[in-house]
Amino acid sequence: MKDLTKVENFNYGLEKIFPEADDFLPILGTDYVEYYVGNAKQAAHFYKTALGFQSLAYAGLETGVKDRTSYVVVQDKIRLVFTTPMPGEDNEIFDHIKKHGDGVKVIALWVDDAKKAWEETTKRGAKSYFEPKTEKDADGEVVRAGIHTYGDTVHIFVERKNYKGVFRPGFEKWESHYNPTSCGLKYIDHMVGNVGWGEMNTWAKFYNETMGFANLITFDDKDISTQFTALMSKVMTNGNGRIKFPINEPAEGKKKSQIEEYLDFYGGPGCQHIAVATDDIVFTVSEMKKRGVEFLYVPGTYYDTVGGRVGKIEEDMNILKEHGIMVDRDDEGYLLQIFTKPLTDRPTLFFEIIQRKGAQSFGKGNFKALFESIEAEQERRGTL
Ligand code: FE2
Repeated sequence: MKDLTKVENFNYGLEKIFPEADDFLPILGTDYVEYYVGNAKQAAHFYKTALGFQSLAYAGLETGVKDRTSYVVVQDKIRLVFTTPMPGEDNEIFDHIKKHGDGVKVIALWVDDAKKAWEETTKRGAKSYFEPKTEKDADGEVVRAGIHTYGDTVHIFVERKNYKGVFRPGFEKWESHYNPTSCGLKYIDHMVGNVGWGEMNTWAKFYNETMGFANLITFDDKDISTQFTALMSKVMTNGNGRIKFPINEPAEGKKKSQIEEYLDFYGGPGCQHIAVATDDIVFTVSEMKKRGVEFLYVPGTYYDTVGGRVGKIEEDMNILKEHGIMVDRDDEGYLLQIFTKPLTDRPTLFFEIIQRKGAQSFGKGNFKALFESIEAEQERRGTL
């Protein structure tokens, strides 16, 4: 496990890639993603077994935490927290699970100064989730503060420069005799939020005005539509490009947009997918498949034309076809990507696996094939 508290462990600098973004909220990276789930122990086991995460930390009755149980897992720079409520009145976690099912509650952002991050964002209009607080134990202190974003989702700013413990105060190291090997997932590339009809611009504006993010790219319903369904998307990024949040809203089509299906089943806006980067997508996908993860099916005909569209690539197209891995190219290079089926019972949250070979875009050339594949799944669920 690398020490995430040391900035120099990142192999890229803090240079500003997107000059349009404002500098009042410097973000070092994604600190952790916390899910509220019905059974944290089993969720953590699934992510270890199927996706190659390792045990990292635990909080619960044994550590003096009475109202919840949390398991933290890690894979390279990605930390996921699974939290389940314990019996007790007014526990907001119950309400979250009842309304949304298992889903992402917190997208935590690693900052150098959590108090300043909270002050700068709330003074620009962000609604506070909680005020800056300092949590301490024998390993030092962590300062955290939170703001609300779309739906019931929140951002928590995490300042850990004075902490050397395993995760944060209140957690102890989770030692396990069960340590499945890594699937090669390295860091979070982007996290997508689905918002309601006509709300994409509201939330793009939120990220621009309260967090200083720039609009990297916009996809309208002509870019993202099939014969039947459509959606629109704006990708928002912070200045150094480490945090990218595409915001989707449904668009009118002959049939029900996948975003509308999500909103129906999640009970409102929320995180739709977490895109994780790998250096070897063929290895990652083979491993995950072996361990039971199901991926979206891409029609074999996709590979009849993809070679002509993307040109020469280093990978063997037959192996990509065997796994259903898609390819797209932009001015800077190409990328390889694939999407899991929903990881939850409700058709809501899924993972994207992405390997970037120069390309900094999002696979626009694959949208049509991808969305036809999603429609086929919607058809089977009776939600198209
Ligand atoms: Fe994505």
